[in-house]
Amino acid sequence: MTQRRILVTSALPYANGDIHLGHLVEYIQTDVWVRFQKLRGNECIYLCADDTHGTAIMMSAQRTGCSEEEWIARVQDEHERDFAGFHIEFDNYGSTNSPENYELCKKFWQAFRDSGLVKEQEVTQLFDDEQGVFLADRFVQGTCPKCGKEDQYGDSCDGCGATYNARDLIDPRSTLTGSTPSVKSADHLFIQIEQLHDFLEEWTQSGDHLQSEVANYLKGHFLHEPLLDWDISRPAPYFGFEIPDAPGNYWFVWFDAPIGYMASTQQYCEKTGDDFERWWKDPDTEVHHFIGKDITYFHTLFWPAMLKVAGFNLPTKVHIHGFLTVDGRKMSKRDGTFVRAATYLNHLDPEYLRYFYCSKLGNGVDDLDLNLEDFIAKVNSDLVGKVVNLASRTAKFISEIGLSAVYPDDGGLFESAAAVGDQIADAYENCEFNKAMRLIMELADQANPFVENSQPWVLRKDPEKQQELQDVCTVALNLFRQLVVYLSPVLPELTGKANELFDVEISNWSDSQSPITGSQISKFKHMMQRVEIKDVEAMIDETKDEAAAEETQSAANESQDSGQPLKDEPLAEECTIDDFVKVDLRVARIVAAQHVEGADRLLQLTLSLGGDETRNVFAGIKSAYEPEELIGRLVVCVANLQPRKMRFGVSEGMITAAGPGGSDVFLLAPDSGAQPGQRVH
Ligand code: MSP
Ligand code: ZN
Repeated sequence: MTQRRILVTSALPYANGDIHLGHLVEYIQTDVWVRFQKLRGNECIYLCADDTHGTAIMMSAQRTGCSEEEWIARVQDEHERDFAGFHIEFDNYGSTNSPENYELCKKFWQAFRDSGLVKEQEVTQLFDDEQGVFLADRFVQGTCPKCGKEDQYGDSCDGCGATYNARDLIDPRSTLTGSTPSVKSADHLFIQIEQLHDFLEEWTQSGDHLQSEVANYLKGHFLHEPLLDWDISRPAPYFGFEIPDAPGNYWFVWFDAPIGYMASTQQYCEKTGDDFERWWKDPDTEVHHFIGKDITYFHTLFWPAMLKVAGFNLPTKVHIHGFLTVDGRKMSKRDGTFVRAATYLNHLDPEYLRYFYCSKLGNGVDDLDLNLEDFIAKVNSDLVGKVVNLASRTAKFISEIGLSAVYPDDGGLFESAAAVGDQIADAYENCEFNKAMRLIMELADQANPFVENSQPWVLRKDPEKQQELQDVCTVALNLFRQLVVYLSPVLPELTGKANELFDVEISNWSDSQSPITGSQISKFKHMMQRVEIKDVEAMIDETKDEAAAEETQSAANESQDSGQPLKDEPLAEECTIDDFVKVDLRVARIVAAQHVEGADRLLQLTLSLGGDETRNVFAGIKSAYEPEELIGRLVVCVANLQPRKMRFGVSEGMITAAGPGGSDVFLLAPDSGAQPGQRVH
């Protein structure tokens, strides 16, 4: 078998939010595929980076009062920590805000200039005068010009499906400041992509590079008509790279983001002494991108066109996956199913999720459901019940004598399971991980009856049967190890434990093809705990706590994350004045504010309500405020809220704030002159 050279990427996560279980569908999938390729003996590298540019990130940084560089450095630390926690192992993890990326962007840009595809055109856009920024479609809301539905985004209406220019919205307003935007013009740079139509038609429809449903989607939605010019520049202020020959203008984030794949490669090469061109110019290299379906357009039209013009390798394959649902529904903060990677790791073993996702992932673009009951049942019955069980029931009996010197007659079990190896490998190769897991569990189903029937725990008591005992355990442990080889792309931690048990490294797929004999067996150490329902519940509860602490509207958050139109919170049911006075709102002064150990969303505040009255409050405003800037401020608090027990202590109230959450939180402040303790009517 000849060794392939394979470059693999996952989409670059935005440096604007935490990694959550939805993201992990992608990063786990890619990591498994990469580990599989490495195990097969291929030369394979896995590259990723944070995607750091654009208006949203600029706003987040601004609001927390730090520089963009500080903001993205902090987020990147968190991302890298989360990925490591799930055993996602990159050969390099970079940033799109790197010098390497800037240099490469210049090369691409020059290539576009040379190709004559760049043109300049005036763009008239809505402009937020208060904030001093042009408003991207996501940052404008108003009434649909076609059907009159209120609160629609600047690009399309979720009521009638109409698409329009943000300027055509009725009563538009900026979602940043709420102000009515003005209309302003600026020159933008465009790429006339239509001139590459034939190339893109051929590349997308060739059948080699894309899943067929993706190819059909592109044909039906984009390629059946002339492609629109791409607006590739943004006027200042914008957090990004300034375009060298167009001062005051920046490359749009989606221009420099995919180039980030190459910049990360460049860093990898600098680190290891490798040659960049080998990876991006040599036609023998395979380039595989893993992405979610929401960013299909950018990776299947935009990116191949960029690579084509700049003369680099085109993607061999773009692998596109669907979205995660939890218990059949969209992830939701309110339901506690919008689980952050870090929250999951507080309660559960990362290998559970790696296995569960793999047992579900096929090679189509369908959404994938994390049904929590199914999750518990599957992990317990497959991994603990069928795989680890083989070792835990036998290893201890031969820890003194080791494996038999000659592999015993096992009725053909090992050999037939070895023969399935090619099929399992094909399934991994084709990203049919669900099929691979099914095949492996079928083998486990054949191995377990062997142990059942041979009853090593009975043999052990009979001094005459010690050879038989050793033979039975030798078979069981080899069948176990064979399964672990097949599962090792999915379960690196279990693989490490098996390596310790046998004191032999699993280093190649071929380790599944021959049994090991005669070697010592280390003392058996526990390999994998059963999933406990209470741990899953605790994870959901903590997620709910986080959401409650954010004091925000979950609907707004969810829709923001998925890029769906941000709906204003609909008005609550009518209430009477009596209802209103039940809520005792008071002016309070923040007299102390501090970070909370182990909570990455919360600040702990001490509020003075005048005199000796104080309240301890946990508020989910850490992404938006530094403790120091809060001390001494007047706020409005709900003073008679039922105390709520949280992991970190009791929260005795709530401070009022507006905004969708995360870094977009705005505390309410009384005008000066108000005194702590005064009631708000
Ligand atoms: N920054 C862009 C990608 C630039 S690539 C040059 C981006 N970032 S993201 O953080 O929003 O998403 C990163 C990846 O995670 C995307 O491929 C996206 O499809 C995937 N997912 C984000 N949420 C997801 C789910 N809920 N479910 C499955 N995948 C999801 O897009
Ligand atoms: Zn409409």
